[in-house]
Amino acid sequence: MIRVAIVIGSTRPGRNGEAVGHWIHNLAAKRLDAEFELVDLKDYDLPLLDEPMPAALGQYSRPHTRAWASTIAAFDAYVFVTPEYNHSIPGALKNAIDFLYAEWNNKAAGFVSYGSNGGSRAVEQLRLVMGELQVADVRAQVSLSLFTDFENFSALTPAPEQEGAAIAMLDQVVAWGRALRPLRA
Ligand SMILES: Cc1cc2nc3c(=O)[nH]c(=O)nc-3n(C[C@H](O)[C@H](O)[C@H](O)COP(=O)(O)O)c2cc1C
Repeated sequence: MIRVAIVIGSTRPGRNGEAVGHWIHNLAAKRLDAEFELVDLKDYDLPLLDEPMPAALGQYSRPHTRAWASTIAAFDAYVFVTPEYNHSIPGALKNAIDFLYAEWNNKAAGFVSYGSNGGSRAVEQLRLVMGELQVADVRAQVSLSLFTDFENFSALTPAPEQEGAAIAMLDQVVAWGRALRPLRA
């Protein structure tokens, strides 16, 4: 069975990301076709990238990089939970992605985003980053609107159709995560 990490990509105090991450994890955990685990960037407390060598060389010198690498390496696919910050992803998420390279390669990814336009501009940028990391990003995505899927922009109350969108995204992530297995072997 493949293992899928649900990566909470925002770290600020009072973030909505935690509720969004738990919502998608609760939905995913009902499935029997993969194992799903929450990975909260906040728990890794990564500094701004401080490795002397580029990640693609795999010469990690810092304990926090090695800890982050061993977490990410253990998964076959990822669901990135990201807000939109100035039409992009949070710096904390980009920084965490940049720390590693081989650990991401030949894996699959899906996205759950949120923002005033559903966070879709952040996901478009994240898809470009995925290409460089050799991650296969699925088409189906979940876009939560701060206006219609949250109360007062802060309490998560997803519209009923969001569950269907989440299932479609997870179906694709699991299928692609499995299909890429031979490349990871
Ligand atoms: C620095 C910053 C920039 C933001 N820029 C945008 C934006 O460009 N578009 C948008 O729809 N929402 C924007 N927002 C609103 C966030 O999407 C919203 O506050 C979301 O809840 C932030 O995620 P978090 O609560 O998990 O940190 C911005 C929020 C912050 C903190």
